[in-house]
Amino acid sequence: VGRAVPRSIAAALADLVGARQVLVGEMAAGHERDWTGRFVGHTPCVVRPGTVDEVAAVLAWCNDRGVAVVPQGGNTGLVGGGVPLDGEVVLSLTRLDSLGTLDHDARQVTSGAGVTLGRLQDHARAGGLRFAVDLAARDSATVGGMAATNAGGLQAMAFGPMRAQLRGIQAVLADGGVVDHLGGLVKDNTGYDLAGLVCGSEGTLAVVTAARLHLEPEPAHRVTALAGFSSVGAAIAAARRVRDEAPGLEAAELFLADGLELVVDTYALPRPVATAAAYLLVEVAGAADPAEALAASLAATDPVDAAVAVGSQRRAELWRYRELLTDAIGHQGVPHKLDVSLPAVALERFVPDVEAAVSAVDDTARCWIFGHVLDGNLHVNVTGPAPHDDRVDAAVLELVAERGGSISAEHGIGRAKRRWLHLARGPVEVRAFRALKTALDPHGILNPGVLLGAASSS
Ligand code: MLT
Ligand code: ZN
Repeated sequence: VGRAVPRSIAAALADLVGARQVLVGEMAAGHERDWTGRFVGHTPCVVRPGTVDEVAAVLAWCNDRGVAVVPQGGNTGLVGGGVPLDGEVVLSLTRLDSLGTLDHDARQVTSGAGVTLGRLQDHARAGGLRFAVDLAARDSATVGGMAATNAGGLQAMAFGPMRAQLRGIQAVLADGGVVDHLGGLVKDNTGYDLAGLVCGSEGTLAVVTAARLHLEPEPAHRVTALAGFSSVGAAIAAARRVRDEAPGLEAAELFLADGLELVVDTYALPRPVATAAAYLLVEVAGAADPAEALAASLAATDPVDAAVAVGSQRRAELWRYRELLTDAIGHQGVPHKLDVSLPAVALERFVPDVEAAVSAVDDTARCWIFGHVLDGNLHVNVTGPAPHDDRVDAAVLELVAERGGSISAEHGIGRAKRRWLHLARGPVEVRAFRALKTALDPHGILNPGVLLGAASSS
């Protein structure tokens, strides 16, 4: 009986989308685990609809039968929110990959959920515009997944996260009803902001099928600098000074000595600047050349050493030391990824304190700390503990709450942090969350294990 049920789900869904678009067995394996290897599940099948009507048909079928569904985009999530940990059907949106023509008048574009961030960025750039969310997983992460999780990334300090780019959404409700609101009106004050609500709901309220997105003009000049500092505090102070003095700051990334060493060793790269305790990578952009202003403000911060890059290849070379860090940490073991944020005043002190808190729980655990420093967002990656041993997760998240921070700055709650939602949201807020969930998904088929979980578990 155990196997007959999954086969019948696959067969029924094949009638809706075509047999070639339903993957089972080995073909489904890549969709059953996240890329870190921390979250591994199983699915009766992966269903790959090619149109919004097919998405609606799949959801209506699952809703009628109470079959749970995990929506999945590029599967780059880091909190176990996009993999079938309880045997759910995987609803892959990657075939919804149409990309509209650029609307230069409105500075907008309509993108299918399955379009990768990299493709969207290339499309905008070809028309002299740009999409202002960027992250290292750009060639896999998709617009639908990024909208569903309100992805942040490298430029959120300047342009905000995914929610700030949304000018409309198309999304399918659990019962197959289609919310179609892609008109792109900037001023549209006609009731609940469903785009804003679905954004960040992690696939628990609706399945995003397309988004209307704001675009920015592509600046003529762009300069990147990597500087080393004698302490974390000096690097944080430098980021704030550059923000205040150099116009057009778009990114300020902090990483520590061990992180840079790890990247240098893992990929046999040359050391970009003299060894220091902490590093800051900043990028400024604008219509006028910002290079001099950046160099002057950086020099005033008294770095140990600094490198400045103007051409796109040299800039990319500097970015490698930050962007390869995630991958390099993955080579050290299955990471526990804790994407926390802290109030500005608490940021510097948190770094040694969190290292001490992790060691106190597990003295074999290793902390790798980096982050989007002007957002107060630190990525505490921990290697050493087994994937299911979440004692270090508890220690880090409790410390964050104690210091007035957030247990998720950008990756979401997913499965990984569901236990600690109470550290971020009060009982009345959680009750409101549940009311929304029940109203939009009364049978609880949409990503049921994510964010809230079953009524008794939060
Ligand atoms: C990053 O900033 O690199 C991402 O949030 C991914 C990560 O934490 O590994
Ligand atoms: Zn990040």
